[in-house]
Amino acid sequence: MNIEADHAANGAPADAQAEAYIHRLREDLLEIEERLIPTGLHVLDRGFAPGAVADTVRTASELQPPEVLDQIARDLALCDESSSILAVLEGRYLRPAAGGDVLRNPAVLPTGRNLHGLNPALIPNAPALKLAQRTVDALLERARAETGGWPESVGLVLWGTDNLKTDGEAIAQVLLLLGARPLVDDLGRVHDVALTSLEELGRPRIDVVVSASGIFRDLFGHHLSLLDRAFHLAALADEPEERNFVRAHTRAMAHELGVPEEQAAARIFSNATGTYGTNVNFAIENRAWEREEDLADMFVSRKAFAYGSHLEGQQATALFERALASVQVTFQNVDSLEFGLTDIDHYNEYLGGMSRAVQKQRGQAPAVLVGDFVSASGKVRSVQEMIALEIRTKALNPRWYEGMLAHGYEGVREIEAHVSNTFGWSVTCDAVPKWVYDGLAECYVLDESLSQRLEALNPHAAAALANRLLEASGRGYWQPNASTLAALKARAGDLEDALERL
Ligand code: BEZ
Ligand code: MG
Repeated sequence: MNIEADHAANGAPADAQAEAYIHRLREDLLEIEERLIPTGLHVLDRGFAPGAVADTVRTASELQPPEVLDQIARDLALCDESSSILAVLEGRYLRPAAGGDVLRNPAVLPTGRNLHGLNPALIPNAPALKLAQRTVDALLERARAETGGWPESVGLVLWGTDNLKTDGEAIAQVLLLLGARPLVDDLGRVHDVALTSLEELGRPRIDVVVSASGIFRDLFGHHLSLLDRAFHLAALADEPEERNFVRAHTRAMAHELGVPEEQAAARIFSNATGTYGTNVNFAIENRAWEREEDLADMFVSRKAFAYGSHLEGQQATALFERALASVQVTFQNVDSLEFGLTDIDHYNEYLGGMSRAVQKQRGQAPAVLVGDFVSASGKVRSVQEMIALEIRTKALNPRWYEGMLAHGYEGVREIEAHVSNTFGWSVTCDAVPKWVYDGLAECYVLDESLSQRLEALNPHAAAALANRLLEASGRGYWQPNASTLAALKARAGDLEDALERL
């Protein structure tokens, strides 16, 4: 929140402005207070503590009917995983159950069972379509606010696990952006797609460049074909280009690259067969990059394999780069409260990596947005807003880091990973403000007692954390004041010296 910008933006009388500011401040504080956060790591056979059960049930009550809440509470406290593992090791049968997110589907509890996958023919189902429509509406509203008009093209990440958890919400989002819908037969199976008319749609067809994970490619072959068909229907529809951006881009790409329109309509890109990931996360973790453009190139070299348009996984770098050059908004869903942008490095390698690649191809950074709809207060947020929310609720929240420290060595490693993952969002999206780095340095390095606790539990991670903050400063993503920098350098030096003596 920026009160000066607010003042500049609207010329309302000062007291009305102050009232609006206080109202928004209250909403922001409530959002932070009510957000469910993990307070520690999972330990085999240990069910949720009573406080965590109560918090989870409260959040579940926003999505689930009252009659299932008692059962959720009982199942969360119950946890017998080792006897299941032993049963499997003895070659015995373990009954499968649904896998996924407990807030969306309480039937995933209790844990310690086999997971069964999905029936791809039922995906995306009707609830997923409904929720996808809500997200697409919010995404387009936010994108219009950021870009000043309908975005011509959205770069969207598709993960396998997320579509498993949500019965294909993200797949449905792609269809809805294009102005297409799944066709369902009498048995409820999605067998084809069709275009919604422009009149019914009431807006232009938005182009989408899909970056699918290797896991998505492996699990959702049927949907690669359905999505590809939707892209082709849109690309070849006889409609005015100003109302059909898929058509406009396909014609321009075919002309510029000298390929048939059939090929220029390819919009689904993933890894080469049998390979996974972007490597952008590994490069950042290991400092194996010099210029940000190196990471854009790495992303493209891993993810430029086209699925659809009869290309069947062939490398199609020119098509991918040209498609990325039209992207104004990049987007990914954050589908559970368990993992967010700073908990794992995969959001950064995908959403961040694609955003860097767009910036290189287009010469301008896209608006980077995330769908955060797990709780009732869900919304589409900018990546900057999401990082601020996560930093306040997790990395700079004593409840979160004390929960991690209770795990000792592994907990400190987790804290260090959060700092490194946060740094990744500087590298890919310039999305980390000064207060975040100031806060992390103050909390974990310059606070003598906490820093000593980290060192005692895991000296390697404690040193890595301090060095990552120095890297943020050294690479120009953070300008600490001189005394902070000097203190940080001194402490990092001490931690390194102590490691030498180990
Ligand atoms: C996936 O589910 O597709 C996925 C999950 C984590 C990292 C990369 C991909
Ligand atoms: Mg990993």
